[in-house]
Amino acid sequence: MLEEAINNQLKHLRPWLKEKKIEAYRLLDRTDPKYPVTIDVYGDYFHVYVYESKHFSSGELKKETWNALKSIFPKLNSDHLIFKIRKQQKDGSQYEKLQEKKERVIVKEGKSRYLINLTDYLDTGLFLDHRKTREVFSKLVRGSRRVLNLFSYTGAFSITAFYSGVEYTTSVDMSNQYCAWAKDNFDLNNMDPFKHIVIRDNVFFFFENIKSKNWKFDFIVIDPPTVSRSKKMLRKFDIQRDHPLLINSSLDLLNPGGTILFSNNFRKFKLNHQAIASSDIKEITSETIPEDFSDQGIHKVYLIKP
Ligand SMILES: C[S@@+](CC[C@H](N)C(=O)[O-])C[C@H]1O[C@@H](n2cnc3c(N)ncnc32)[C@H](O)[C@@H]1O
Repeated sequence: MLEEAINNQLKHLRPWLKEKKIEAYRLLDRTDPKYPVTIDVYGDYFHVYVYESKHFSSGELKKETWNALKSIFPKLNSDHLIFKIRKQQKDGSQYEKLQEKKERVIVKEGKSRYLINLTDYLDTGLFLDHRKTREVFSKLVRGSRRVLNLFSYTGAFSITAFYSGVEYTTSVDMSNQYCAWAKDNFDLNNMDPFKHIVIRDNVFFFFENIKSKNWKFDFIVIDPPTVSRSKKMLRKFDIQRDHPLLINSSLDLLNPGGTILFSNNFRKFKLNHQAIASSDIKEITSETIPEDFSDQGIHKVYLIKP
């Protein structure tokens, strides 16, 4: 029963949630084929992905999820339960808008505060699968002065860097909406906009545009989507094909002793060691899978040094 699965997971997570004061977490992973749903909690909101399946109707799954959650959390208000149908994605379309309510809630993660939009996009503004990556990064980045955050989305890695004492961050994303959202997140965390800048650009054009500027960084985060299209790009970005170019271009921007944290969510991803201009590459994926995710293949994370 779905209710039993959620209760078991709650029993398992409660001590950890309490100890770490976690406000945003995965309550149910889509591990049981009988219930193709994922339930994430953001404060007192429940954000549910119902996966399209030949065997179930999304209506049935929604009803069953509502009944299970209502029985476990009797005070649950239907306004606080958001359902989204997750379809097979084509060409990075998960970043498209679903609606425009513009309502946001704030969740805390350690000292960081994030604006979450539960309705307007398929994703919410904070990737929960990277909670532990942010925690690992927060330790590694201490002592760095300048950090570059590529494919920055709503700026989570830059906020993490800020709370680790990093003086300057540069966040690059090609979406106007996500750049504006990152700036709002920086305001919320009282980050100085002259020290923590957001650049709206395609990462590949950004590499070209800063060539004359001689900018260098102590730490670079590269967390791209699996595929993406841009009107100005002649061909779509493909993580498997294009990651060496991304990593090598970033290696050129590192100060001596600097580090790249490279991550992606492509399940079949294979790092092309031969094409990368570094022999100091370490996979740290196992250190970055959060306690609330049972899926060990959710992402891959590497540390790369020049
Ligand atoms: C997986 S999300 C990044 C998540 C982010 N690192 C985080 O942890 O919150 C991918 C982001 O890449 C951006 N993006 C996709 N293709 C891009 C490109 N060629 N140049 C710049 N940004 C791009 C999208 O707008 C989206 O915000």
